[in-house]
Amino acid sequence: MDIEQLRTEVGTIQADARRVLADIPSVQALREVRSKFLGKKGALGRLMGTVRSYPPEQRSEVGQTLNQANKAVTALFEETARRIASSESVSEASKASAFDPTLPGVRPALGNVHPVTAVQWEIEHVFQRLGFTVEAGPEMETEYYNFEALNIPADHPARDMQDTFWLKNGWLLRTHTSPVQVRAMEKFGPPIRCIGPGRCFRYETTDASHENTFHQCEGLMIDRNISIANLIAVMKLLLREVFRREVKVRLRPGFFPFVEPGFELDMNCQICGGSGCATCKKSGWVEILPCGMVHPNVLRYGNIDPHEYTGFAFGLGLTRLAMMKYGIHDIRVMNQGDLRALVPPSRLTGPAIQAKQ
Ligand code: PHE
Repeated sequence: MDIEQLRTEVGTIQADARRVLADIPSVQALREVRSKFLGKKGALGRLMGTVRSYPPEQRSEVGQTLNQANKAVTALFEETARRIASSESVSEASKASAFDPTLPGVRPALGNVHPVTAVQWEIEHVFQRLGFTVEAGPEMETEYYNFEALNIPADHPARDMQDTFWLKNGWLLRTHTSPVQVRAMEKFGPPIRCIGPGRCFRYETTDASHENTFHQCEGLMIDRNISIANLIAVMKLLLREVFRREVKVRLRPGFFPFVEPGFELDMNCQICGGSGCATCKKSGWVEILPCGMVHPNVLRYGNIDPHEYTGFAFGLGLTRLAMMKYGIHDIRVMNQGDLRALVPPSRLTGPAIQAKQ
């Protein structure tokens, strides 16, 4: 090949390189074609090997021509590499814009919850749907709210029903969640729809069904024309929602100074199915929902006119309900910190409950 042909050949190689590199899609593809042009056995490399075959006086010109071509093609490759890099980062950026960091993420259900917490969430959910608010009263109470305002005066024998932890300052640890009733009446005035879940304390000997520290959930509904029919309807709905089926219940008269008439609502023991066990004291029934129509005296303590308004109240045994629902035989397990008694997310019922986690 004479020097003229060499110049033409070099021109063709450069034009080829420009054409090929114009639509190279990626760094990877660029790397693959690089050796075809710039490698030792590539188009230019091969020509470099022929320098010696030219007469000595032409060699430096041949060398210069090839070197220039080599530089130009190398520059082309570099420019292409820059172009690809910048377009790749543009597409990365556009991919990133499809991800909206302000959207709420999918929260995995993590951790197990205490059975009492699990049923408390369910109860709150059921009652919130019925328009009830969730109230919390103090665990350390005054005698007034725990007894007096609930129609249990100092000399009333009913004070013996609940053995009380008295505090040195004359206050006490609430023996039930009923103090929330009068507090709610003072706070809202009629009409009222609220529940008050919380911890209660009694100075008691413990056994499979008694603890000195346990949970109740108070319920209170006050309005014009509230009757026992409303009470029973709400109680049934509550148990149906918690157990996700009809539960066998029985209603019998019960005495509590702050309701008139008062009832004990028992449910079929879910541990033994009603045949009798230690949890239900061999009766087949578990006292779960003491309730009744709010006593006129209690309404008066709450500054509500009993001639205009009536209401019902209940004191759901949250701890017992959790035992029935999760098949826990011994109430003492609830306060022992036994991790095996906790409820995994998969056993929590209802979408709202899972979302709460
Ligand atoms: N406070 C009562 C108890 O703990 C239960 C109860 C509440 C009864 C509300 C009637 C109405 O024994």
